[in-house]
Order: sequence, then C-alpha cells, then structure tokens
Amino acid sequence: MVQLKQQTYTTYLQNQFDLDGDGALTSFMTRQRGELMLGGRVNLNVLAQQYGAPLEVVYTPQITTQVSRMQAWAAQARASSAYPGRFLYAYATKANFAAEAVETALRAGVHYETSAAADVTIARSLYRQGLLPTDRLICCNGSKEPNYLEAIRGLRLDGCTNVIPVLDDLAELEALLDTSAPLRFGVRERAAGNRDGRHPGNDRFGLTSAEIEVAAERIANSQHDLVLYHAMVGSQIEDEAHFLATLRESVAGYCRLRRRVPSLRYFNFGGGIPTAGYRLDFAFDYAGFLTRLMHEIKATCAAYDVPPPDLIGEFGRYTVATHSVYLLEVGAVKAGQPGEPDWYLINGSMMVTLPDALLVEGQEFVIFPLTDWDRPVRPVRLAGRRTCDSDDVYPRPDAPPLMLPDTGAGLVLAICGVGAYQQMISGRGGAHHCLSPEPGRVIISELDGRLQTRYVPQQDQASIMELLGYQPQRFPVPLEIERRTPVPVMARRRLAQRPSRQARASAQME
Ligand SMILES: Cc1ncc(COP(=O)(O)O)c(C=O)c1O
Repeated sequence: MVQLKQQTYTTYLQNQFDLDGDGALTSFMTRQRGELMLGGRVNLNVLAQQYGAPLEVVYTPQITTQVSRMQAWAAQARASSAYPGRFLYAYATKANFAAEAVETALRAGVHYETSAAADVTIARSLYRQGLLPTDRLICCNGSKEPNYLEAIRGLRLDGCTNVIPVLDDLAELEALLDTSAPLRFGVRERAAGNRDGRHPGNDRFGLTSAEIEVAAERIANSQHDLVLYHAMVGSQIEDEAHFLATLRESVAGYCRLRRRVPSLRYFNFGGGIPTAGYRLDFAFDYAGFLTRLMHEIKATCAAYDVPPPDLIGEFGRYTVATHSVYLLEVGAVKAGQPGEPDWYLINGSMMVTLPDALLVEGQEFVIFPLTDWDRPVRPVRLAGRRTCDSDDVYPRPDAPPLMLPDTGAGLVLAICGVGAYQQMISGRGGAHHCLSPEPGRVIISELDGRLQTRYVPQQDQASIMELLGYQPQRFPVPLEIERRTPVPVMARRRLAQRPSRQARASAQME
C-alpha cells in the first residue's frame, strides 16, 4: 500500500503496462509534451480547456485510419498467403449509426452491413445520393420483420443489385422469392453462433444445415442466386487461435455447399474482430489472424476442390470504438467505506455513458487522466454524480479499482473506446436516467485534407422535459456554473495565441 502511494501515474503505467507516458499509449492515443492527442492530431487537453467537461469528442478521421489499417493488413495477408480471393471490409452500422460515422466509413471504401428496416432506409438514401456507390455490397442481417423485408425489396427495385438479404429464417426467403428483380441471397449458418459455447444468445441467428439445404434448393429453382455464406462467431474475440478454430467448421460448411451451388462466392465471418479501445494491455495480431485465416480457407477449399471465396468481415466495434472519447470531470471525492477505495464523483453518468459496463460481463474501457501524471496514484472507483443509482459506478464492485492521480476534484478523465454501441444503446438525444443531459459534442471531420470542427451544445433541460410531456417550465433548471480545469502553462500560451474562436477550433488539432 505504501509503495502504491509513492507511485506516480507515470510510473504506474510504466510498471503495469510498460508505457513510458510519452508517445504512443495505444493505437489511437498518444501523449505529446504532456498532453493527450487523439489520433495523433486532436489535443484533448486543449479541448477540455476550451469547451469544458463533460464533453464528447468525435474524431472521424480515426475511422478512416481503422479502415485503411485493416485494408493494408488484409493486403499483406493476401500476399503472404497467396490468397486468390478478394478481401471486402464491411462496416456494421449498428455499432454507430451517426451520419458522420457511416459517411466517413463509406468514403474510406467500406461495404455496408444492415440490421434493421431503418438501416436499409438509410442505405437506400445514401445509395440514391451516390454516397453508397453501386459496387458496394449491402449485407442485410438479423431476423427480418415485414418492414425490413419490404425495405430490402424496395432497395433492390431501386436498382441496387448488390443488396444481399442474409437469410435468418426460411420464412424470409418465402417472402422475398416473388421479388420481380433477381436477388442475391446469403445464408447464415446457425451453428457458428455458439459453436464455442461462449456466446449463448448468438445461436438464435441463422439456419440449421438442413434449412440451408432447403434454402439452396428453393433459390436454385428461382430466378435468384445464392452467393454468400455467413458464419459469425461472436464479438471482441481476442483469442486468435480460438477465433480460427471456431471458424474452421464453418469454412468446411461453405465448401460443402459450394460444391453444389456454383454461384456461391463470398465467405462472411461477420463481426468479432476486436478493438484496442477497452484495455491497455490489448494485443491482437490482425495481419497474422487474416493470414492464418486465408491459409486455412485456401487449404480447406483445395481439399474440397472448390475455388477460395472472397472474404468479407463486418467490422463494428473495430471500426468506430476508438474515434470517440468522453471527457468527464471529477467534481468531488467521497470517502469509501473502511478498506475500500474512495469514490471519484464525476459530472456525468457512467451507466448512461458506458451502458456496456453494466450489460457485458467484464467490460472495460481505457481511461486516462488529462493532467497530473506526475502525481501519486490512488485506487478509486468512479461514480456518476448525475444519477442517484447504486449501479452508476465504474469499475463494477467485483472488478479491481482504477489507479488514478490523487488530484481529486478538477481532474478531467478521457474515457476511450466509447464510439461503438454505447450511444446506440443509451440513445442519442432522448431523456436519460435522472434527466442527465447529454454533454456537448465536438465533431471533428476531415474534408480535402483539412480538419473541420462542429460543436453541438449540451442537450438542454427544457427539451428533455418536453419529451417527457411537461409544459415549458416556469423555473428553468439552473445553468451549470462554468468551471475550467487548470491547464499546463504551455497549453495556456498556445490558447492565448489563438486569433479567433473559429480558427481555434481547427488549430487545436495539430
Ligand atoms: C451480423 C453481425 N455482423 C457484425 C456485427 C458487428 O460485430 P462487431 O462489433 O464485433 O464487429 C454484429 C454485431 O452484433 C452482427 O450481429
């Protein structure tokens, strides 16, 4: 305990994670001259000073980086395994439907994966605008209610030949068979869903092998084609060997079907590729995984004497988890129970901001303090001050506490890895737990090589109340008293030199 108290945050990171506190901390975060930089370009310390916390920082070029890194690893894998098929990167839009995320991913060259009727509607509108080019595949997954099926049919009849309904049920096939234009179908293998026993709930998706046979037969006797075999193992699979071993039987399933269905040409392993946004000790050899997967597929295809398929991955959290960060400030410290860590009470809600911390067992997020890396660390738990809920804590009571500088009130934390699923689960723009308003949001995007910033102010309380059916309030909710955290002298000087608010918005990125 005595030894822990003497550790600074910097030495803690050195001892625990072999990070020296300068330069790269993760694949998306660096520290330069004592300040945290998202994607190497966005200075979070300066943004916290400029806009205050709580704040959401959305940096869409990180999405482009994620996509191009994966494309490069796949190119490397194809070269070293001499894989003849193509590698197609699809973005699983369910991870983050925000227009800035979807449009950035599309500009980076991704194909599209949908999960709902509204999702297809968005795709159709992007298709109409030319933002979703005609050569991109649109794989439609999930159980399909009639409106989802209608949306798919509508998109196909709009001329989109690359929309691929991936059958989750034979009834979906029956509903779509009479579509007047030829459709390209996929089948989702049900067995892949929980072959490893680690993903109960995933095995509700898809068709049994007997149902796949029926689907193949029905499609063969129609004007449509069966082109895709989908086998998804799970999400955030960090054990490469296990990922590959679990896919092995699905690849054989593809090959068996391919022998009878010559139109089959895509093997889609769905999601599962992990993000670096959750743990500082994260390691995954993406290129190595793809190389081994391509080797395996090639060998299995050779054994079955069928051509290797084009390989599709549907990247959700890998694409977007790291492009967005919450900046939350410790407002007060409350003593823990005897023998327990103290509470850092933060100006937000952990359960609204990070719902997966409650929903997914063992879910973590990478968290850095913006300042005070030379101060001693102390074990703490974070508690959302804007709700009065005993579940509004992070880490969960059964997980070890966080080690953070002992600064207490005024310390601003960067909560990373929040760009995937968190907002989609909590909702965006609604009424949240204890009427906690959504923080202001800075959206930084890149156009023609230049960074642009858009600021969306904190959600206002009056509109939240209106959503809940109240008349406009006679007594407005008191505004937050503006507080600013101290910033290092260097950052203050740089801020002082900024000519205008507008110019500042772009200047903080470099
Ligand atoms: C069919 C399908 N594809 C892709 C994904 C994205 O998964 P991940 O976020 O692990 O990449 C999901 C997630 O639930 C999914 O259901």
